[in-house]
Amino acid sequence: MKKTITTSAPGKLTLYGEHAVVYGYPCIVTAMDSRVRVSVSVVDEDHIDAPQVKRTDFVEEALRLFREKNKIKQSVEIATNSDFSSSVGLGSSSAVIVATIKALGELFAVSLSDKELFDMCYQVVINVKGIGSGFDIAAAVYGGTIYFDGKSKEVELLRLGHLPMVVGYTGNKADTATLVKEVRDRYEKEEKKYKLLLSSMADIVQDAYIASTTGDSEELGVLFNENHALLQKIGVSTDKLDSMVEAAKSAGAYGAKLSGAGGGDCMIALVPDDMRMSVERAIEEVDGKIVRVEPNAQGVRVES
Ligand code: PMV
Repeated sequence: MKKTITTSAPGKLTLYGEHAVVYGYPCIVTAMDSRVRVSVSVVDEDHIDAPQVKRTDFVEEALRLFREKNKIKQSVEIATNSDFSSSVGLGSSSAVIVATIKALGELFAVSLSDKELFDMCYQVVINVKGIGSGFDIAAAVYGGTIYFDGKSKEVELLRLGHLPMVVGYTGNKADTATLVKEVRDRYEKEEKKYKLLLSSMADIVQDAYIASTTGDSEELGVLFNENHALLQKIGVSTDKLDSMVEAAKSAGAYGAKLSGAGGGDCMIALVPDDMRMSVERAIEEVDGKIVRVEPNAQGVRVES
């Protein structure tokens, strides 16, 4: 009988420090409870069936690199399945890479530590996109809420407890690589200004790290607002994101910000539990779509 291994890995939401993390600063990211599942088995001819994944080149490169590193010649079938659309920008690419390599490791009895898994998956990102900090790979590998060092790629698990969050989708898919390149162009033209903005973002990450140890939701919300203001200054927010952020704040959120590269995708708001409904309604009133996800999810795992 054909042996099939199925794994799953979580998507992610960036809480603090996006873009700055590309320049070696830290960020804070949470794994969310929507997952990508990958099944692999040995077959006679390679076959990849990944209908929900926007780009199969991530899966193809994951397979190529794993084979090369482990000198494996057999053909495999890879099938993916996702709880969430690749168009919302919640990390389906990183989740599919991590779940694929984890599944291949299980199938061919190659044991990989979390660090080795991270390194191989990050290599896939660099080989395909040529850019990226790897924080999304770390979230898919380790799960929970993590403080990710953009320079050393080291990870510290944060004990955040209950994080009452509302997530709103703008309806527009953003292209992360383009946004990262645009920020880099502006950075090169106005280095002094951008260094200051990005290091201010790193200060916010440090403050959030401290606030996370006491579970101070109000302070964590204020830091969302400050982080969003800096993201506006580096030119990655949009009118739609700003209006959703403002709507959430006016409806009683502790704070709100865009999450990820900007240019579209999602915003997040930290809300008092009894304000959740009114914040959701306010986001919908400005044409945002509520995405129901919970933070702090488990990292990659073998399902069967
Ligand atoms: O757009 P997302 O959710 O993939 O997040 C991108 C975050 C950046 O910091 C802009 C890029 C990166 O690789 O860290």
